[in-house]
Amino acid sequence: MNLSDADRELIALARQVRQNAYARYSNYSVGSAVRTASGKLVGGVNVENASYGLTVCAERVAVLRAVAEGERAIVAVAVVTPDGATPCGACRQVLSEFAPDPEQCLVWIATPDHLVARYTLAELLPHGFRL
Ligand code: THU
Repeated sequence: MNLSDADRELIALARQVRQNAYARYSNYSVGSAVRTASGKLVGGVNVENASYGLTVCAERVAVLRAVAEGERAIVAVAVVTPDGATPCGACRQVLSEFAPDPEQCLVWIATPDHLVARYTLAELLPHGFRL
């Protein structure tokens, strides 16, 4: 897989912030990072809750943090899980809301030690809902 320095940096941030995941119920820590059109990198982690359904995924935390910083265009994503899983459906939809070009938006999938796969957001969410 061809990785630019910017991609490596994005994956490294997802790995680094994963250490802050609050995953005391599932023990499944997830780190994510998004790169915005202006070049900013923003990380997110999963934040679980004793009321399980209130858990928020790492990818959505990253997106919401970016938006709160005034960044509304996501151009690349990295997700780091223990087993190299891909983002859940809800996160794909939320990422898609802020991806101006889902066919160009790369989604890097990794574990703490290995790069697992590279998709585009369009591949992960074909026919996403848009208004
Ligand atoms: N999780 C994420 O952070 N991202 C996903 O795309 C799927 C699942 C979290 C939620 C929960 O804290 C843990 O992983 C197990 O489901």
